[in-house]
Amino acid sequence: MLTLASLSLRLGVSGCRGGRRSIATVVSGNKTSRLVRERLALEVERMRSRFSGFRPALVVLQVGDRDDSNLYISSKLKAAAQIGIDARHVRLPSSATQDEVLQNILSVNENPFVHGLIVQLPLDSVNPMDSELITNAVSPDKDVDGLSCINAGKLSRGDLKNCFIPCTPNGCMELIRQTGVSVAGKHAVVIGRSKIVGAPMHDLLLWNHATVTSCHSKTTDLPEQVGRADILVVGAGRAEMVRGDWVKEGAVVIDCGINHVPDETKASGKRVVGDVHYASANERAGFITPVPGGVGPMTVAMLMENTVLSAQRFLLKNPAGR
Ligand code: GUN
Repeated sequence: MLTLASLSLRLGVSGCRGGRRSIATVVSGNKTSRLVRERLALEVERMRSRFSGFRPALVVLQVGDRDDSNLYISSKLKAAAQIGIDARHVRLPSSATQDEVLQNILSVNENPFVHGLIVQLPLDSVNPMDSELITNAVSPDKDVDGLSCINAGKLSRGDLKNCFIPCTPNGCMELIRQTGVSVAGKHAVVIGRSKIVGAPMHDLLLWNHATVTSCHSKTTDLPEQVGRADILVVGAGRAEMVRGDWVKEGAVVIDCGINHVPDETKASGKRVVGDVHYASANERAGFITPVPGGVGPMTVAMLMENTVLSAQRFLLKNPAGR
């Protein structure tokens, strides 16, 4: 029998933490991303049997050796391996020149056996790099990060079916869907206007028919704006900046922040918090994503989804599988 509890488990939402009832329902990115990855693994298996061994392939290009990038890349490679995506990590030294980076991108663009290419950001280079030039060098039909002007332009015009949607906003939309709250007609507020999170999140909510307000570092009345949000997505990059008493009762709160703050009780001397003050927002929100275990795993799952989508588009044009 499908009980409310089993339905919630399937959907990746739950109203309890550690046996204690919390006011907001927690929307788990860990559970939701697992469901997405399981679905993709089946899809990849179907492709392999239908197109004699065909596998979606992804290249992750890294410049330098940042610890945070190394961590993100290893989760991407692990997820790809579980799903059956053939993922390759190309690491250039921090001494690489911009021309060398561009050369590597162009060679992957021309390789018909690769369906997705991402350049891990930020670039960790000792040489001057134009990251805009570099992200735009990725062929739009392999740009599974959705960061090129072509894909960003299509998204901004509402051409959602013909572009790659950036992974973090796409993951946020999936988590909002899990709540069962419909976006159409709601007032959504996005904090942050980065190319990777805030700006595409604005567009995605808009074309899912929300009325959207974008807030940023020059917004003068942030608490008031936040207080109007039925759906709040925060990608500000500032630890626990959004306070619970700003949040509208019952709102959906999606926290994209990953910040390290000192914590002497931890062996590492630090812990990870979001951009939202979780404990106080939890008392007012209807739904809330945890940090960690909320948006982060969804970003990885959506990169896998875009890679499988790119491989499907490739097969539509090349039914022989090459
Ligand atoms: N750095 C942090 N998040 C991301 C992401 O989603 N894509 C890329 N390319 N770099 C990142």
